[in-house]
Amino acid sequence: MKLLGIETSCDETAAAIVEEGREILSNIVASQVDIHAPYGGIVPEVASRQHLITVIPIIQEAMAQAQAQWRDLDGIAVTIGPGLAGSLLVGVNIAKAIALAQSLPLISINHLEGHIYANWLEGREPDFPCLCLIVSGGHTDLLLMRGHGDYLPLGRTRDDAAGEAFDKVARILDLGYPGGPAIEQAALSGNGALHPLPRAWLKGSDDFSFSGLKTAVLRLVEEKQNLYPADVAASFQQAVVDVLVTKTIAAAKRLGAKQILLAGGVAANRLLCQTLDQRSSLPVLFPSPLLCTDNAAMIASCGYFHLKAGHSTGWDLDVTPNLRLA
Ligand code: KG4
Ligand code: ZN
Repeated sequence: MKLLGIETSCDETAAAIVEEGREILSNIVASQVDIHAPYGGIVPEVASRQHLITVIPIIQEAMAQAQAQWRDLDGIAVTIGPGLAGSLLVGVNIAKAIALAQSLPLISINHLEGHIYANWLEGREPDFPCLCLIVSGGHTDLLLMRGHGDYLPLGRTRDDAAGEAFDKVARILDLGYPGGPAIEQAALSGNGALHPLPRAWLKGSDDFSFSGLKTAVLRLVEEKQNLYPADVAASFQQAVVDVLVTKTIAAAKRLGAKQILLAGGVAANRLLCQTLDQRSSLPVLFPSPLLCTDNAAMIASCGYFHLKAGHSTGWDLDVTPNLRLA
């Protein structure tokens, strides 16, 4: 089965063709980073209008690269949330139009579930039950995946998401946008043990909290003169990774998970992947960086498993900007 995946939830316009939920035939991503960078963050109206301009050429490029014709497709999977309403509408509308014109099943996808399915795209076959840590710009979710589409939510952030913390701290340190890659790059030449920063363990809970850490960085920068931003970036990154890794491993052990799956943009962070891999006695799976950040291959993969389970949606499909997983 070949599925076209469409992803427009935030600031990436993406389309991909995936075979049997696992083999990427094409994976095209048009980033809007340069357009939003002068504002230091995403401007929703600008994002949705840019999706409108880009979405059809990106789909055409994905079809051409996969050497696919419309009649080769078995379904269209599209992100319906969580995300920016105006951005989601563009993807859902074009997905509906193509599905209607080609009499194809339309499959609605939760963006967060899509991130998890990036782990099926590089020749691996995750083993259930697995512990999933989704770390993105908007979410920090810990859940137990017991089978396809079967999730037990464990914990989430009580304030800032991990990626959001990276973005905000990068702004404090004047490192640019998006913050995650900027912090990771700066940290390479910094000493992560130099500035002791707080870790919110929230003992007895699988929840996370990163706003205290962000405030501590702000206070440090305001109070100390002649700071080397690389040291602050490294110390911050170390604090985030410590908490994510320790809590994920503890939950995996407690629940008898067979594997740990990392997903979402922050999973592109090498220190996070390496530290989790080193400290965990369980196998740790994480997608390569380009499949960690927003893309449509993960949406098409997730769509395949839903379609196989008999799920498809009607023409009255709407977007759900605050959609949750499980
Ligand atoms: O999953 P994603 O592409 O979009 C959302 O669904 O939010 O995640 C974007 C987030 C941003 O906050 C970005 O700063 C962060 O992922 N990110 C990283 C890295 N690459 C992207 N954070 C830490 N290290 C990275 N290398
Ligand atoms: Zn995402």
